[in-house]
Amino acid sequence: MSVRKGIILAGGSGTRLYPLTIGVSKQLMPVYDKPMIYYPLSVLMLAGIREIAIITTPQDQEQFRRALGTGAQWGISLTYLVQPRPEGLAQAYTIAEEFLAGSPSCMVLGDNIFFGHGLPDLLALADAKTEGGTVFGYHVADPERYGVVAMDERGRVTQIVEKPKVAPSNYAVTGIYFLDARAPDLVHGIRPSERGELEIVSLLEIYLEEGLLDVQRMGRGFAWLDTGTHASLLDAGNFVRTLQLRQGMQTGCPEEIAFARGWVDAEALTGMAAQLSKNDYGRYLQGLLTDRMMEG
Ligand code: TTP
Repeated sequence: MSVRKGIILAGGSGTRLYPLTIGVSKQLMPVYDKPMIYYPLSVLMLAGIREIAIITTPQDQEQFRRALGTGAQWGISLTYLVQPRPEGLAQAYTIAEEFLAGSPSCMVLGDNIFFGHGLPDLLALADAKTEGGTVFGYHVADPERYGVVAMDERGRVTQIVEKPKVAPSNYAVTGIYFLDARAPDLVHGIRPSERGELEIVSLLEIYLEEGLLDVQRMGRGFAWLDTGTHASLLDAGNFVRTLQLRQGMQTGCPEEIAFARGWVDAEALTGMAAQLSKNDYGRYLQGLLTDRMMEG
């Protein structure tokens, strides 16, 4: 079986964040102390995924390359791909078809932020499933804005409805999709919706009809944060700040995950810490090295 590969979909137009995103991609906006894309990237790394494609608009690609490089500094490999126009989330699979080369995938939307105890375990469960797919349902106050899961009386998923006027439940489908190797092929058979997009819901429906889609509920111990509007972007930044200051631990820190997993050594981390030595982020990395020395 081939190893699962990662995709971060970080194109889109970000019109709700104008004028912020006229000149810079939404997914490079700060969420407190790091660019937004660090958070979905960390999710993939927590899932143990080391080969990752980053899909951006053509005009933004250069900035993403500058921000993230080859990934070697974090012991991973980053491939940059382009989505010429925002023609839907499912299009990511055909854009990444060559990159995936028959591997199963985990796609995370570039503007989705997750936090919660046990996230790596939840991801590992989804990763272990070789056939079909897994998505995560999250209880939200305003399901009409999302793809929503409809369930029967026994709690089994019967349907996923995109932005329903009357929501069949409060469970929205979050932006993490574990799908098997067939995803690109299946997308070739999907037609664009009325709004001209290849809808992720259309793809998920195929798996659902085959009885091969698991919808795992992310419980209330998790945070799934929105970053699409000015207010929610600031809220997400404040959430991360509050958490990090209180705990003295980082969230969404690729250096830490890479070091913990043994993908980079102490010498490499020392170099990265030195580059950031003027702020708390760098001091935190330095602290990881000190902790390791004390343990050793
Ligand atoms: P959205 O928030 O739905 O769209 P957007 O980012 O273009 O923003 P706005 O509504 O303000 O214009 O997108 C969700 C995520 O998916 C976001 O990270 C951008 C990404 N995306 C793409 O990369 N390509 C696409 O075709 C679409 C629809 C979204």
